[in-house]
Amino acid sequence: MVHPTLKNGPMSTLITNIAELMTQDLEHRVLKDAAIVVEGERISWIGAAADAPAADDAVDAGGRAMLPGWVDSHTHLLFAGDRTAEFEARMAGEAYAAGGIAVTMNATRATSDFDLTRLAMGRVAEAVSQGTTYLETKTGYGLDIGNEARSARIAATVADQVTYLGAHLVPAGQDPDEYTDLVCGPMLGAVRPYVQWADVFCEEGAFTAEQSRRVLTACRDAGLGLRVHGNQLGEGPGVQLAVEFGAASVDHVNYLAGQDVKSLAASWSGWDPATGTGERGTVATCLPACDLSTRQPLAPARELLDAGVQVALASNCNPGTSYTSSMAFCVTTAVLQMHLSVHEAVRAATYSGALALRKESGRDADGERAVGSIAVGHRADLHLLNAPSATHLAYRPGMPLTYAVWRAGVRER
Ligand code: NIG
Repeated sequence: MVHPTLKNGPMSTLITNIAELMTQDLEHRVLKDAAIVVEGERISWIGAAADAPAADDAVDAGGRAMLPGWVDSHTHLLFAGDRTAEFEARMAGEAYAAGGIAVTMNATRATSDFDLTRLAMGRVAEAVSQGTTYLETKTGYGLDIGNEARSARIAATVADQVTYLGAHLVPAGQDPDEYTDLVCGPMLGAVRPYVQWADVFCEEGAFTAEQSRRVLTACRDAGLGLRVHGNQLGEGPGVQLAVEFGAASVDHVNYLAGQDVKSLAASWSGWDPATGTGERGTVATCLPACDLSTRQPLAPARELLDAGVQVALASNCNPGTSYTSSMAFCVTTAVLQMHLSVHEAVRAATYSGALALRKESGRDADGERAVGSIAVGHRADLHLLNAPSATHLAYRPGMPLTYAVWRAGVRER
């Protein structure tokens, strides 16, 4: 008996009649006429539909394509207010500047815990309904001890991983070095129970190289993994700092010097992509929706991939530079305008996003479930498209192609 609309599946579910199963596993397998079995939260079998084992329940995929759920490794979902006027001004020719963050800071501080939680949950639900099954989000619109700690606490209840971004902007009227001391000291202490990562906006108008270095050092010493917002608005020290500190990712990467590309590539020299083993380097995370919304040049994803850098795509959902959580839009743009193949773009939005969050591998035995690829033992995060192949993501831009979503084995849509 087939129950295609069942929300919470039984112990095991066979999903069959999958026209194309793009696994994004280490072998980059794309299976035709495939099936998959989900048991609880994990994938327990993958193969040809003709060889599929029996399961408690069955879902007919109807000749559609299946991918891993999107892994969105860069979002800013803890905010209130909107910045339509700033967007309109930009479309009329004004440049983006970091100062707009203060507008959102004021709106966020003025919002109750209840409303901030409700807004963030709504944004996660929007993302999941479009195929995102694992996501990171950041603080960064609180910018004082109490409000950063509050954002971190709420973020930990709505997102899979949380990043501390007290170093997003120096609030007006504060001395930049004194504010940096706060970020590295009591503010860090207040957010620490809720976060896994720390980030710094290393850019003209935000934090200097020296201030960024202090933030990264303090956060590393506090046991946090590191990421950097770098090279978004011009060439600068962000990428070099990220590589020097062994950051898991440097995000934006619009303006790169030749040496930046070389350093990022060198950071991956100790890693074997065929086995996924060795020392992981710094992922270059490209944010195409942000690039378009700020009228910046698209990040050079093609050049980075060709140089041997691991490249991720993320939505950067936030009210200032990228008010969308559509990973499909990012993938479409990466294919149509950044010259990635469909397979490369989907990989960047799944496996490589997981790599940026250090969740691409996991030991089945101790319940550490990898995300971002379809393999036995990995978390059952699945995205069924209303199309026979993933190519339709680029071939039919802007179309609502998400047909069904399983997140940790639970059917969400
Ligand atoms: O990633 N660049 C810094 N932070 C955000 C934008 C924040 C804002 O303008 O509100 C970004 O684009």
